[in-house]
Amino acid sequence: MSGLALPMMPEVDVLPPPLERPDQSAILGTYARVPLTMVGGQGSELIADTGRRYLDFTSGIAVNALGYGDPGLQAALRDAAMGLVHVSNLFRTEPAESLAEWLVAHSFASRVFFCNSGAEANEGAFKFARRWARVAGGPAKHEIVALRGSFHGRLFASLAATDRPRYRAPFRPLAGGVTIVERDVDQLAATLTAENTAALILEPVQGEGGVRVCDVGFLRELRILTRERGIALILDEVQCGLGRTGWLFAYERAGIEPDLLTLAKPLAGGLPMGAVLLTAEIAAAIEPGDHGTTFGGGPLVSTVARYVVERLADPALLDAVREHGVWMHQELARLAADSPHVRGVRGVGLIWGIDVAMRAALVVDAVRDLGLLILTAGDHTIRLLPPLTITRADLARGLETLRTVLT
Ligand SMILES: Cc1ncc(COP(=O)(O)O)c(C=O)c1O
Repeated sequence: MSGLALPMMPEVDVLPPPLERPDQSAILGTYARVPLTMVGGQGSELIADTGRRYLDFTSGIAVNALGYGDPGLQAALRDAAMGLVHVSNLFRTEPAESLAEWLVAHSFASRVFFCNSGAEANEGAFKFARRWARVAGGPAKHEIVALRGSFHGRLFASLAATDRPRYRAPFRPLAGGVTIVERDVDQLAATLTAENTAALILEPVQGEGGVRVCDVGFLRELRILTRERGIALILDEVQCGLGRTGWLFAYERAGIEPDLLTLAKPLAGGLPMGAVLLTAEIAAAIEPGDHGTTFGGGPLVSTVARYVVERLADPALLDAVREHGVWMHQELARLAADSPHVRGVRGVGLIWGIDVAMRAALVVDAVRDLGLLILTAGDHTIRLLPPLTITRADLARGLETLRTVLT
């Protein structure tokens, strides 16, 4: 995706227009919810209170990788509930240590920090990168660079690294020292400096930004550039990590290794959990008191996550995701050829984006009426994130519904 520039959006202190569907419940209206109440799920289907079943190509926005009602996950939840739920981080607990050891054994990392969400994982990664950079290059080496089209979360530093003017404008000033640069090696080479840049953060597959899969060559060039200049490379695999691309970690596809990696969404099977994975060098710069969070790595979530990561690392599951990806590519290319409304398709494994001529939200509404749940990724892109355990028959059923609406 290097060289694919999006139009620059002017950033202004003007509130965006209100969303179309303000939430009328007692829950704060930060979400544009559809008028559907979900009460159950089975396999790749969600069940509404009306009894209607919806084929779910959203997976709780990439969280429910094992689908619904997975017997193994249910057993892990039951087992976890019989043990300690929470112990403060003043003490050691076996489930957190065992999960961290598993993540270290299966990745580039030598240490893990646990937290509770994707945004929190990125905030932690920024702090760890800055802490390391300050040791390596002094206080001037603090800049964080993110890419055009990025989404890293909605807290202050993660929002500053998120390229969504609509999300940013009402909350300025955002955290300082964070710059957004085009997804272009030359522009990045001109921006990243050994003296001032602490970290470059990017998603190997931009999710919210339109399902833009980074070219393997682009990732490799950025790895070389950051290494040459002593800049930490943070990969945000909150959405594309843990099997979604058909590799346990999306970076494996490019044959590179980051300095920091952030995970969340599917990590604990729907329980809130995030993680930052770090190299030994960065971990060595961190001291007690540098960071912390009350709930991070609690025994209940860690026990469940240990079960989930083993399932997601299963070679048979990863093979199936890669094969589904090849098949999806063929089928979506056929759909694009047959439909005047489809402008392009992009993706890998079980994360796909389809550019459409009309507003993406209209397609989401139309397929929902036919029993299929999908997402948007920007105004004119629909996004498909089915459970990683989905069957080919269910994938085909969902694509048939899309075809009905788009042709
Ligand atoms: C790539 C990426 N990073 C970070 C986040 C933020 O995660 P959370 O909503 O858990 O804070 C998301 C959420 O969609 C994401 O897709």
